[in-house]
Amino acid sequence: MTSLTKRLEDLRAAFALSAGQLARLSRQFADAMDAGLTGQDSCLKMLPSFLGRPTGMEQGRFIALDFGGTNVRTLLVELHGGGLLTVRQMLAASLKDTTAGYDYTAPTVWAEELFAFLAAQVATVAAAGNADSLGFTFSYPCRQTGANRAILLHWTKEIATAGVEGKDVGELLGTALARRGLGHLAPAAIINDTVGTLLTAAYQDPWTDIGSICGTGHNTCYLEPAPPAAPAPMIINMESGNFDAPPLTPFDAALDAASDKPGQQRLEKMAAGRYLGELVRLAAASLAAASPCFAAPVWQRADTLSGPDVALLVADTSRTLTQIEHWLSSRLGLASALAERAALKEIAALVTARSARLVAATYAGVLLRLDPTGQSRHTIAIDGSLYEKMPGYAALLQAALAELLPAGAGHIRVRLAKNGSGIGAAVAAAMMNEEGYGTSK
Ligand code: BGC
Repeated sequence: MTSLTKRLEDLRAAFALSAGQLARLSRQFADAMDAGLTGQDSCLKMLPSFLGRPTGMEQGRFIALDFGGTNVRTLLVELHGGGLLTVRQMLAASLKDTTAGYDYTAPTVWAEELFAFLAAQVATVAAAGNADSLGFTFSYPCRQTGANRAILLHWTKEIATAGVEGKDVGELLGTALARRGLGHLAPAAIINDTVGTLLTAAYQDPWTDIGSICGTGHNTCYLEPAPPAAPAPMIINMESGNFDAPPLTPFDAALDAASDKPGQQRLEKMAAGRYLGELVRLAAASLAAASPCFAAPVWQRADTLSGPDVALLVADTSRTLTQIEHWLSSRLGLASALAERAALKEIAALVTARSARLVAATYAGVLLRLDPTGQSRHTIAIDGSLYEKMPGYAALLQAALAELLPAGAGHIRVRLAKNGSGIGAAVAAAMMNEEGYGTSK
């Protein structure tokens, strides 16, 4: 056996998750949900959203501001009722642009500058048409005291803008909008992107009770039928990216140690698009002693590979892996043998499959808690580039769910809720127009 083959075998073992391990993880996840909900020590924050399920009859015209990873989207959304909606406008802007010379995610930039940039996006869309109100999707862990009050607990996804942690992001946005004469658009609702995804899908499909993001970051929310401190069902943002039970490989440990916040967001660092490229790089670098290609210095450079690079590696099914050959030579300046390209493709597949299986285990954990006998219908709505664009990801996820929940698998629908994270802010703003929502204005 060549040493490359042997080392690949070690990688296969390192990234594998057996059916037994997955089942254990889903039970641990359900236990962590219980602990978090009842105020005990838990890796799951279980944050209340102060929103329940929409009726599907919400109507009006709303601005939705979606601040997620490195992009901001501003939408003008019309809700027609009956589950129908139209996106009238969508404006996308990047939070960092090295050629234009700005980066609103850097620790040297202050909250006021970031929120002024967000307000400028809103102003552009507001000029295109009147809106009843604005919903704000802010995709980071926030402690909410009402549907429109949200204090950022801490940044994730390597964002580090100064002066936002510990602040009410609704107030920061409201102040920036007021400076532009748009005080009337201070956010009516502030939601996590997982909540937006659930709301968007539930607007059309009343069986939706799980919303999740598999994109740059990862997280899941669900509709809790009996929240401890509220009289009615409420969507809970679990911040499941912080689930810490999955077994770590040495590559996960190295990635975590080099990250902005070591020890936090363990699951997210194993499963989200922001980190998959780095995991592939670290695993490939471990083959250095067995291959001239992987011994090249470029494999020692952090963040050499992105999520889309991993997708390219997974997607090449040609006999001689010509796309990968071209990519290695044009992007990294490396010559490669077919066995090396095959090894790289396999590493990408291992890392991707592990991500989908871990995520499926958390969904199974939620379903075990909601419906232990698997009798009811459930729709899991997912938004995000990893789920939408990574070849084979959706199928891997579905297969792992069927492995975990054989009895309930027939009742579970997993669907893409494209742009759900943003559209959901419009649905949330519309819900706030109705009676009995939120605690503060
Ligand atoms: C954040 C979550 C968010 C997820 C997906 C994570 O890093 O903590 O709040 O839902 O990314 O965007």
